[in-house]
Amino acid sequence: MSKATRSSFVRVLNGETVRLPPVWLMRQAGRYLPEYRKVREQAGSFLNLCFDPALASEVTLQPIRRYDLDAAIIFADILLIPYALGLNLRFETGEGPVLDRVEGLSELDALRNRRVADVLSPVFETVALTRRELPTDKALIGFAGAPWTVATYMLAGGPMNDPSACRRRYYEDDAFVQQLIEILTDLTIEYLRSQADAGADALQLFDSWAGGLPESVLEVVSVKPLSTIVEALKQSHPHVPTVIFPKGVGEKARLYADIDACAAVGVDHTMSFKWVRDNLSPHTVVQGGLDPMLVTVGGPKLQQAVDAILEAYKNVPYIFNLGHGLTPDTPPEHVAALVDRIRGK
Ligand code: CP3
Repeated sequence: MSKATRSSFVRVLNGETVRLPPVWLMRQAGRYLPEYRKVREQAGSFLNLCFDPALASEVTLQPIRRYDLDAAIIFADILLIPYALGLNLRFETGEGPVLDRVEGLSELDALRNRRVADVLSPVFETVALTRRELPTDKALIGFAGAPWTVATYMLAGGPMNDPSACRRRYYEDDAFVQQLIEILTDLTIEYLRSQADAGADALQLFDSWAGGLPESVLEVVSVKPLSTIVEALKQSHPHVPTVIFPKGVGEKARLYADIDACAAVGVDHTMSFKWVRDNLSPHTVVQGGLDPMLVTVGGPKLQQAVDAILEAYKNVPYIFNLGHGLTPDTPPEHVAALVDRIRGK
């Protein structure tokens, strides 16, 4: 593809500095958009929506139609892998997702032999369908959960409000937790390769529960499996860059910036822009950092925060995004104002 038609998002992932940073937003498709709520209702359930390629593709494209964003992220969920493994998955209002609990080593053999590609094939169809609909200068992002974050939901067996029970499980039986992580690592490689084959231009790994782990544990349950995944992807799909978003890890983000095969590291809103620019930018492309609450609030505080980010990352490859997802109570017009500000309008 010629440079002119390639999205600036992919160009920045490849290390180019562009005048205005590309922008997309975590949870840009979702409940804050009235058109999403309509399709979600039509689908009946969240899982029906994820597994219906026509509807999933439609909600993936909704924010692209409304706003001048540089990338769409495929509409799916990080919990589709455990669901495809045969675990029951419920989304309870007010409580978040709830999965069947995986108790111990004896259950892992059954999981190891499950074939997930058939159950997940509608996701690959959504990718192909959406890539055909998207303009060539907009990138399509595929994604998966990081093995640790997906494992925390599988170990919790209830609403996952606090991952400390999973840390405890790791200390009690590290062989079990490590084997679970190995199974998820292999499945995630297969799942992301299929998304790239179907047309995803870039891939993101969400490690939403990487925060709060001692460094020695973080290395084993997060940094190492994520390196394995991005290295495998780089070998099979050298032109599909990967982004790792290790939420809540603070200065330990350096551990991810040092993974050669990883194109970019996502930063959450607790991190200092100056620290990130001085300590991560020399080693990797940086993505994100704006507090999603500022988009909910809008107005001059949002504009000032956007300007501060643009100033902080002026001369380094940077992708504008949030420090976590947009919340359902975000007024859609605040997103429009945010994108305009980034574009200098
Ligand atoms: O626009 C996008 O960002 C793409 C779609 C997307 C969803 N989930 C859709 C979704 C993505 C990238 C995810 C990732 C995801 N899912 C993460 C990692 C990012 C993060 O938020 O930390 C995690 C931890 C999950 C697990 C999950 N799924 C949670 C915690 C929830 C929220 C529960 C709730 O009701 O608030 C979900 C459900 C979910 N995934 C929704 C959406 C739009 C809301 C459900 C609905 O619309 O009915």
